[in-house]
Amino acid sequence: MQGVLFDLDGVITDTAKFHFKAWSRLAKEKLNVTLPASFESDLKGISRLDSMNRILKFAKLENKYSADEIDAMAQYKNKLYLNEISKLTQKDILPGIENLLDELAVNKIKLSVASASKNAPFILEKLGLKDQFDAIADPAKVAHGKPAPDIFIEAANKIHVDPGQCVGIEDAKAGVEAIKAAGAIAVGVGSSTDLSEADTVVANTGELTYSVLEQAFRK
Ligand code: G6P
Ligand code: MG
Repeated sequence: MQGVLFDLDGVITDTAKFHFKAWSRLAKEKLNVTLPASFESDLKGISRLDSMNRILKFAKLENKYSADEIDAMAQYKNKLYLNEISKLTQKDILPGIENLLDELAVNKIKLSVASASKNAPFILEKLGLKDQFDAIADPAKVAHGKPAPDIFIEAANKIHVDPGQCVGIEDAKAGVEAIKAAGAIAVGVGSSTDLSEADTVVANTGELTYSVLEQAFRK
């Protein structure tokens, strides 16, 4: 193992609740629909525009708005989301992550962020973690969102490591699929039923250690 490719939302910090809160408010205010709780996990790892389109489909409004109108709604959601994440601090880093980053640095493993979020640099700054990573892949530069492999390939390229020498860490089904499609080893965080395609699954971030990742890689 020469590199580790990190998803952000749900792996480094728990922002899914803020995404869902913002999407729910947008859906209620602009579309007059209530999103079911299941949407929180359905939208994990899914890009902003793809999430917006899934919500429009759920509301049976997919052909009602122009591309500009859809874009404006997605921007409004992001404004609501930014308001929530501006309060993030180091205390919001998920358990075990700081320790894992230290262990990986000691072992000279290159670290790259492979998040679908355009807010990843801002969030890492808020958490005080930006300097710990060697690279952050820019989702605006890749053609296809997760479950396509693009963002994981870009994240591996940015640290000059072959994806086959990398372990990717993900909490979303679409993300695990993307890691596997990139040719990296997938470690899932969460339910082993939901993340059954991962090479190894841990129940929570507190279980992520250098040795768990190394063992997943050698398996
Ligand atoms: C992550 C989250 C998704 C979110 C996506 C885009 O993958 O899990 O819920 O939609 O990033 O985030 P952004 O901050 O760019 O809207
Ligand atoms: Mg995630």
